[in-house]
Formats: sequence, C-alpha cells, structure tokens
Amino acid sequence: MDNYTQQAADLLAQMTLEEKIDLTIGKDSWSTYGVPRLGIPSINVADGPHGLRKAVARDLTDGLRSLPATCFPTASALACSWDPSLVEEVGRAIAEECQAQDVQVLLGPGVNLKRTPLCGRNFEYYSEDPLLAGEMGCGFVRGVQSRGVGTSLKHFACNNQEWERMSISAEVDERTLRELYLSAFERIVKQADPWTVMCSYNRLNGIPAAEHRGLLTAILKDEWRYEGVVVSDWGAVDNKPASLAAGLDLEMPGPGLNHTTRIAALVQSGALSEMVIDAAALRMLRLILRANAARKTGIAFDVAAHHALARRVAAESIVLLKNTDGLLPLVPAALRSVAVIGGFARDPRYQGSGSSRVTSTRVDSPYDELARSLGDGVTLGYAAGYSTDGTLSEAGLAEALAIARSADAAIVIAGLPESYEAEGMDRNSLALPQGHDRLIAEVCRVQPRTVVVLQNGSAVTMPWFDAPAAILEAGLGGQAVGGAVAEVLLGVVNPCGRLAETLPMRLEDTPAFLNYPGESGSVRYGEGLFIGYRYYDKKGISPRLPFGYGLSYTSFRYSGLHTDRTTLRAGETLQIDVTVRNSGARAGKEVVQLYVHMPVSQYNRPTKELVAFAKVHLQPGESRVVSLQLAARDLMVYDTERHAFRLEGATCRLLVAGTDLSAEITLVEDPGSARRVFTRYTSLKQFFLDPEARMVLLETLQTMPFAGADMPDTEREMMFAIPICKLVNFGRLAPEALEALLEKVNRPG
Ligand code: BGC
Repeated sequence: MDNYTQQAADLLAQMTLEEKIDLTIGKDSWSTYGVPRLGIPSINVADGPHGLRKAVARDLTDGLRSLPATCFPTASALACSWDPSLVEEVGRAIAEECQAQDVQVLLGPGVNLKRTPLCGRNFEYYSEDPLLAGEMGCGFVRGVQSRGVGTSLKHFACNNQEWERMSISAEVDERTLRELYLSAFERIVKQADPWTVMCSYNRLNGIPAAEHRGLLTAILKDEWRYEGVVVSDWGAVDNKPASLAAGLDLEMPGPGLNHTTRIAALVQSGALSEMVIDAAALRMLRLILRANAARKTGIAFDVAAHHALARRVAAESIVLLKNTDGLLPLVPAALRSVAVIGGFARDPRYQGSGSSRVTSTRVDSPYDELARSLGDGVTLGYAAGYSTDGTLSEAGLAEALAIARSADAAIVIAGLPESYEAEGMDRNSLALPQGHDRLIAEVCRVQPRTVVVLQNGSAVTMPWFDAPAAILEAGLGGQAVGGAVAEVLLGVVNPCGRLAETLPMRLEDTPAFLNYPGESGSVRYGEGLFIGYRYYDKKGISPRLPFGYGLSYTSFRYSGLHTDRTTLRAGETLQIDVTVRNSGARAGKEVVQLYVHMPVSQYNRPTKELVAFAKVHLQPGESRVVSLQLAARDLMVYDTERHAFRLEGATCRLLVAGTDLSAEITLVEDPGSARRVFTRYTSLKQFFLDPEARMVLLETLQTMPFAGADMPDTEREMMFAIPICKLVNFGRLAPEALEALLEKVNRPG
C-alpha cells in the first residue's frame, strides 16, 4: 500500500455516486474530472511515446495539432540502441517537457511485438523480441516516472496490426500469449510499475480487450498484482458496465452523452455493483493524488539540451548494415566533392503519423549537417531525385546521376514516405517506393563509392543491397537525425546500433505471411511462438539481415565465458561473465547478446531465444568483463496443462551471439512442480513414465495392461499411446475407477 491509498479511501468515503462515476471517464479528450468541493484536481494526459504531443485543443476538433516539443527517435529506432539507460534518459527529458506543459501522464510506451513488418504502427514499437521490448519499456517508464510523471503502457494486448484494429479479434493460443505477447507487459508491470496501462482496441480471442476480465483483472491486477489504473484506448469502450466489471478504471475520451446518469441508473437498479465503481474510483484517486503531488508549475525545459540529447540518442541508434572496403567513415581530407541525393536529405523523414506525431522544436537536415561537418574543403552537390510521393522522373534521375558521376562519393538518402507508415493503416508491401529503389540502383551504377542512408520505421526490402558500398539504417531518428547521420558518416560517432527486428528478403518469408491480415473479423496467430528470428531460425530461412545485427568501425574479440553456477533452480539467478576486447583502432560500443538453446525439450521451443544483453563502451585495446544476470524465470516455458510457467528439468546451452562461446546449464525442476497434470486423455505411456502414476495405475488395474509376452514392440508402442480413458472402452476399467484413479494420481504430495 503506498502513501496515497489511505488518503484515497478517505476521499472515496465522502464522495457521491455521481462523483465517483465521473472519475471513471475523461472530462474531455485529455483530462480527468476533479471534485472541487473535496479539493480533488483534474489531471492531464497527453501522447507520447517519443516526445510530448500536448494537443492545442481539449477535444479532437483541432486534429492532431500540438505544442512544440522535442521529437526523439521513435521506439523502432531507439530499440536499435539496445541501451535501456539511454531510453531512460529520453524518458526523463520527455517528463521534464510534460512538467513544463502541465501533463501528468504520458501515453506511452508502446510495447506490442512486431508480428508482421506490415503493421503500420511498428515505428511506435520496440521489437519482435519480448525481452528487448520489455527492457526498453522498463527504461522508458523508469525515466519518465522518476520525474513525477506517469506513463501508460500500451496497447494491452495483441494490437499487432492496424488493419481493423478497432474490431479485429486476435486469435492467440495461451502459451504464445504468455511467452510472447504478454511478456513485455509483464516485465514492465512487475519491474517498473507504470502508473497506467492502456487496453487495446482489438478483441482477444473474441472478447474486446476493454471488456476482457481475464486480461485486465485475472492476469494484470490479480496475478501480476498491478495496482495502477487501467485506461481505455481512445474510444475502445463500447459497453461501459461490462468494461468496469472486467477491470477497466478510466474510459477515454469523455464524456459520452448522459454518461454519469446512465451509469448511476444501472447502479441504482442493481444491474451494476457500486463496489465496481468504488474499485475504479479508488485507483483513479490514487493516481490523481500521486500525480498531483509531483506537479510542478512555472518550469521550462532546456530546448537546446533536449535537442542535443535527441542527436546523441539518434546516433547511438543508427545501425551500420554494410561497409565494403571500409568506405565509411568518410575522411573529409580525402574528398573533394560529395553528391548528396534524395529529398529526405533536405526534408528528413524522422517520425511517424498519427497520435504520436510531435510538433518538433526544430529539425536538422542531413544535408545541412553534412555541409557543416565536411567543411569548406569539400564541395557538396545536391539533387532531390525522387519527388515527395516517391516517384522518380527521368529529369530527376538525370540530375542525380550527373552529380553522382562527377563526385568522389555519393550519399543517397531514401526510405519510406510518411504516407507509407501511419497509425490506423498497414502497409501492403515491404518495398520502398519504386522511385527510391530505382534511384539507388542507378546511382550505384555510376558511382561505386555510394552510401545509402535509410529513413524508415519498419523493415523494408532492398533488392539493390549488393550495389552500394555502404548502408546505414537511420530509422525514424527524431528531429536531430540530420546531425546524427553526419556524425556516423564521418566517424565522430562509431555506429553501435543493432537491429531490433529481422530484415527479411521478401514478404513471403515473413512469419505471419499466411495468417495476415485475417478474415471475417479475426486474425489467427497461426505461427504461434515463431515470430521474428524465432521463425527464421526454425524454418531455416535466411533473412536479408538477422535480428541483433550491426557493424562497427572497430572490431571486438570475446573470451573467457564463465558462469557462477552450473545448475539453476526456480527463484535463482545466474551470473554470466564474458570478456570483451576492442581489437580495433577506434573507441566503440559492443552489444553483448546472450541466447538460450534447449537441445531437448518436451515442448516445441524456438531454436534460440534472447535471454540477456548488455552494451559496453571500450577504448581501442581495452578489455572488460561484462556481467549478465539471468533469472530462472527467463528460461521457463508456459505449460498450458498447468496454466503456469515451468522450469523444465533439462539441459540448456547459453550462447554468446557472434562467437563460439557457450556454457551448459542444468535446469533443476522442483519435483513437486515437475509432475504433470493427468487427465483422461493422458497416454498410458505418460502414466508409465511417472513412478507414482505408474504405481497407482498398476494398483488399480491389478495387472500390467497389454503385457502379452509375444506382443511385438511396435504393437505395444501403439497400445501404450492410447489415452487412459480408452481402457474404459476396452473393458479394462470402470468409469468410476477411472475418476478415482485420476483423483489419486493428481492429489498433491
Ligand atoms: C491510439 C493511442 C493514443 C490515443 C490518444 C489512440 O488512437 O491508439 O495510442 O494514445 O489514441 O491519442
């Protein structure tokens, strides 16, 4: 119980039914009701996640217009930093802007997993991997909340596509849900305690998320012990009484017509319990008290410092995908002229469309920043090439080729135009606009020293991959992306980003290809656990570039893998130490990635799964021991018979990415929890594998079933594969005896 619980309870006791109901709905689009007679203020919420979008109007009449704020790199870019502490810094800065604009809760982070690269909102999400998404989300929540501003962890859950996002039913099996789609939410709720969690628009296995008691109450509030507020996505509530009963505390936006009178009438008629209203109002009161206590007035944020942070973060998030013959970093002294090609060079694509769109305090273009950093000694040519809709005219191409041909090197800045990726719509292809693809291919034909810089919020195909000498993935790098690109191109910053999502060769190779976008109102997550690299690994499909990939201007050597234990039990933690040495000539950062591989398992397991990572900065020649912590929970599998996570007694191998270093760990299962649940459908074989079950079975049957001495092994195998209930059909067991047997076998202890 925190400090505000008692205070909230005291206030609740003094409130009328109508006042309590008011607390469960927005006063307008961006604030909650207060109760002035009791001194309870209204609080303000505003979008995120990669910058503050404080709307200029209280309702939606002014569209998405908002006050100026710093636009940081979007989550898709930030995740490539693989550095939660960096995200935490961003969170602190955004919270300062919230305080300056009187915003008490920022609507982010978004931690939905990238099931398909077509999802139009992937730029707002971190990764295809739940650990990476979870750790980045923890960093963000900690950063924002450390400055007394709340967050809203969204969109809970399975909002993995924008197509029919407000109605589609995501059909997901229980294990996949627990191990993948709920996993990042669980980590963040348990480790960083976001003040609010936002439920998604979609339905989950047929039930609207906003009315999903299993999700909002059984899992989030009861199992994960979440004490904050569950808020609806904007307009997600269709049936308020059902939502309240399911565990939703705050409906946004508000107020609907006659809302309070309607809900009060339901309470008065007995159709809705007042206890349900009280529970939601109490959570709201705690949130309001907590937020209000941290409220600051009359403060301003440091616009220049935040811009500088946005630049540093953008540079740390850029991924070097290719660098043939060490073309990069560019050396100004060795260049007389550089051709900068592509409209994004002057007018960068640096954020996405929709509710997260920030009105930036300023925007730096790659062209201006390159001009500044290359200095007067290098002549910079510019040609826009493609037009804003992505098409390329013959004249535009000719102009670009002319400057590319005569320069010492060319930099083509290409990517996805804004209309290609946006909230509320999905892409229908992974391709860049034709004009961008053609421009790159043609420029590379006349200029071998070409660098392609990509600006996009989600995976794209690169049919021209082999042509340029170097490729940088700059993502949607925020308002300071121009400077960040220049710094990486010139080696002021050594690139240290790693891909947070797999880059596929083609759409047909992607995990959800056969099960997207769904039909007749639902989408089946038929690929199950196998999204992202889990899919490519298992199917043996080579992507263009794998998850976790990224080059550097230096090189790293690993040695001396050491674990502090060789066995691991539930509740225990393992420490893995590995020595990393910068074996090149430049300072740089390496991302150490640890994966687990289970050679033998009773479950269908991914070939490998990320279980820990750390980023380390090393001077040339410097060595450092990097320590990674691994909790037994991170190696557990979700068992759908027990409806619980389980540490399967097995041997696993921990692998350090990019090396041949590995360690074997024996996972030791508590004998109590190791026992399976025996049902009428459990095979005889399973009974025989479990000593206790075997004993009970033999006691009941008195004789060994199918024990004919001359029975061939194949026949015996066939018989032992039958479920126990078939012994009833075959006249070996009475129905009551089967019930008694199951009861006895499953009895604890
Ligand atoms: C989005 C949310 C956003 C909310 C408020 C919704 O349409 O899905 O992410 O926070 O609007 O703008």
